Amino acid sequence: MRIERFSSQAALYTRAAAIVIEAKQHGATTFGLATGGTMEPLYANICKAAIDFSQCISFNLDEYVGLAATHQQSYAYYMHKHLFHAKPFQASYLPNGLAADPQEEAARYEALLQQHPVDFQLLGIGQNGHIGFNEPGTSFDSVTHLVTLEASTRQANARFFQSIDEVPTQALTMGIQSIMRAKCILLIAVGEAKREALERVLAADYTEEIPATVLAKHPNVIILTDLQERGV
Ligand code: GLP
Repeated sequence: MRIERFSSQAALYTRAAAIVIEAKQHGATTFGLATGGTMEPLYANICKAAIDFSQCISFNLDEYVGLAATHQQSYAYYMHKHLFHAKPFQASYLPNGLAADPQEEAARYEALLQQHPVDFQLLGIGQNGHIGFNEPGTSFDSVTHLVTLEASTRQANARFFQSIDEVPTQALTMGIQSIMRAKCILLIAVGEAKREALERVLAADYTEEIPATVLAKHPNVIILTDLQERGV
């Protein structure tokens, strides 16, 4: 793992966009995409950049169960709003949150992922160390699956909804193993709320209780953060 610390978020996001652009220049064609507040400034930078994804494929990490792609808090809507409207891909895949059988949908999504190995994966991190929607305790061997969201995750994401009651209770997410298959991973952790999870990752405290700690076993991970080392 390589960590780069920034004293300003502007500098961090300039660097993040440069890493994505460089990955594409070096031949990445299949991109794993993430959502959340953390990714918004990155997508804003990418939208302004001279980069064309029209020959590329994207896979999103996750989607809420029960939200249509037209729902403003669905990740399908988020992706259109923040990236795809300006930078369309040849094909963009997200799990279908309205699938009649979510387990079957998870299997379908995983099969698609296995047909199109991800070259470059973007990742945020939850306050409890989740990646995608893989909550603490998820097996490191997991593939795309249906999850019940932790109360703390619903609380953290409630800021995007009118009230916490509107936050879905389930989601479909790539599994940890699905994420780890990516050739290169860029994780962005911004803000004090992510400090504890990030420190556990950096301490390579390899435990399924903090999903992101699996990254210590990946050969090609870059972490960008605006958090400085404590006491520095
Ligand atoms: C959600 C997403 C994650 C994301 C995390 C952090 O739960 N499923 O993929 O990394 O939240 O979100 P934020 O960037 O808004 O802090």
